[in-house]
Amino acid sequence: MKKNITVIEGDGIGPEIMKQTIKILNAIEKKYHHEFFYEMAMAGFIAMKKFGDPMPKKTIDSCLKSNAILFGCIGDPDGDKYLTGMRPEDGLLKIRKEMGLYCNIRPIISYPKVINKSPIKNNLLDKVNFIIYRELTGGIYFGKKGRSKNGESAYDHCLYSKKEIRRIGKLALQAANSRNKKLTVVDKANVLETSRLWREVIHEISFDYPDVILEFLYIDNAAMQIIFNPKKFDVILTDNMFGDILSDESSVIAGSLGLLPSASIGNKTPIFEPIHGSYPEAKGKNIANPLGSILSSAMMLEYFGLYEEKKIIEKAVSDSIEKNVCTQDIIEGHITPSTTDEVGSYIEKYILNQ
Ligand code: IPM
Ligand code: MN
Repeated sequence: MKKNITVIEGDGIGPEIMKQTIKILNAIEKKYHHEFFYEMAMAGFIAMKKFGDPMPKKTIDSCLKSNAILFGCIGDPDGDKYLTGMRPEDGLLKIRKEMGLYCNIRPIISYPKVINKSPIKNNLLDKVNFIIYRELTGGIYFGKKGRSKNGESAYDHCLYSKKEIRRIGKLALQAANSRNKKLTVVDKANVLETSRLWREVIHEISFDYPDVILEFLYIDNAAMQIIFNPKKFDVILTDNMFGDILSDESSVIAGSLGLLPSASIGNKTPIFEPIHGSYPEAKGKNIANPLGSILSSAMMLEYFGLYEEKKIIEKAVSDSIEKNVCTQDIIEGHITPSTTDEVGSYIEKYILNQ
């Protein structure tokens, strides 16, 4: 298979984790005889400094021509000081919108070896495996926002159309149907009108998936249940803002934010990126966890229909954790942590030797 991939390393630890990810994809290419062509593009703080824009047109053009986007991470402590009114994060919001990526998919899995890293009781975490479907291009993130004339008040408008809810609803129902057949819709329907519309629409389209058990939970209750009963979830479907919060909360289950991958799909080129931020304190130290990014590339391969290739990366990642070849954020007890490079090389070898 031949694929064109735009690579956006971004800021902070972005270049380091992306280097490992490309290393793994090179191993996949070699083993399975694929050809991946990469085009490097800039976004985030680094692009603001160079082009005065966190998502330059050149980057968007490259993305539009590619089959997929591999994204590192963006953000910088000086991010909001550099250009008035613009932050590196705006670049990410812009590309999501430009590509029409309305569906953000965030799997949450507990790895037995990392369970001790979570502050949650071990018995609650054994075999947790759920997936968050977060709406990504609507809601309060993209509604009209502003200040009143005298600057004494501000507003953020939350808007959802039936169409926006229906298209991600279908994808989440399909996912539940192919997994453990349970869909939990998280909202605040006791207060918000948009949430009531979500309930109506999802309820309506759920009749096409008679095997899927549908459950509605208020966000406050869901936030609690994710901690004390995470095993109850299979697929969680929620809006942009609630999904942002629940996915960071869920990272506590996985033991480290550094482990979590994501895929954003929709109308144009999909993005595959780790959930974590740019971790500027670790930049250049070779200590960042590359697994979130490597697992995101596995999600990309799955999107291409390369299921065996996806599985072998996941197996290699599980094996590296099992054998304690881990960066400092997930290492156990007194074992010496591996560097970012060492983790990448271990996974590369595992794949090539299978
Ligand atoms: C995420 C991030 C972004 C979001 C930020 C950086 C704009 O937190 O991908 O979860 O809120 O969507
Ligand atoms: Mn977030």
